[in-house]
Amino acid sequence: MSSTGGKQENEEDKLLVSLRKERGWAFSHVYLFQEFWWPSSFIQEINIFQNNFQAKDSDVVVASFPKSGTTWLKGLTFAIVNHQSFPSIEKHPLLTSNPHELVPPLYTFRGNNTNIHDQFLQLSNMAEPRLFGTHTPFHSLPNSLKEFNCKIVYICRNPFDVFVSAWSFFKKIKGGPLPTPSLEEAFEMYCNGIIEFGPWWSHMLGYWKESIARPNKVLFLKYEDLKEDANFHVKKVAEFLGYPFTHEEESNGVIESIVKLCSFEEMKDLDVNKSGIINFQVKSFENNLFFRKAEIGDWVNYFSQPMIEKLSKIIEEKLSGSGLSFKMK
Ligand code: A3P
Repeated sequence: MSSTGGKQENEEDKLLVSLRKERGWAFSHVYLFQEFWWPSSFIQEINIFQNNFQAKDSDVVVASFPKSGTTWLKGLTFAIVNHQSFPSIEKHPLLTSNPHELVPPLYTFRGNNTNIHDQFLQLSNMAEPRLFGTHTPFHSLPNSLKEFNCKIVYICRNPFDVFVSAWSFFKKIKGGPLPTPSLEEAFEMYCNGIIEFGPWWSHMLGYWKESIARPNKVLFLKYEDLKEDANFHVKKVAEFLGYPFTHEEESNGVIESIVKLCSFEEMKDLDVNKSGIINFQVKSFENNLFFRKAEIGDWVNYFSQPMIEKLSKIIEEKLSGSGLSFKMK
């Protein structure tokens, strides 16, 4: 962080040296910080945001473990929150912008601005409602986001498909520091919780428990349920966020048109998603990488019997008693 100079960099270096370190999937290393595995650049951001970020009651946060349907939920959330500003689907921003541009990640929303004070001024001047995305586990969110009345929508997906989606995604990223782990290596890491933002079970459980304790604060969605009945869930998200559809909008088919606009089939064929690039500052990704198969149960094409048994056992152990379960196919 250049604005605070060498002293802070020194402290960050000291902190990193003190943390347990493992090889990452997309980053050369991940560090165990606040009980989760992070790339080093995120640890700096988390510290800065925990100390400086001021939430607003109108903020909306789309939270997820990577590869759980974040892109989809960001698109839906943007369309829901703005359904009165963009009643015409023909001119909708989602036709020309990737959902990650419209719902930017909380921690990397800093432009070229390295001055922390200016950065937070810029954030506080953003038009409301501010929409953010994050892979940050619940307990590492800035306090104000947890305490204010702002809303969090979390999307979760069955851990078998998350694994395959993540491995397929990271395998396609070009120019990484290390070759992507093989399927077998990645699976071992995943079973040990070692993956950027992992352990995935603690990530899911953090938001799951919060959604039970504070249902007005955190809405917990499952990718599989959204696939099964997107209309129902779009209505539910809209009500939860305080942007419900009127009877007239419902009978005019507004929900169906949002679901269609954000459907995998429509989104993956847009020019912006076929050829654009999203710059998350810590890493850039081709937009098309966020659209692969979008199926429930594609894992059957990748898992051997011993892998199925091992992951099923971990899911049973880690999630037992929580009430959280998944449709696998
Ligand atoms: P697959 O790799 O199984 O195809 P994330 O957005 O969190 O990175 O998750 C990516 C996964 O969501 C990918 O899954 C991708 O294909 C799927 N996906 C992307 N857009 C989608 C959409 N509009 N509807 C349903 N699934 C979508």
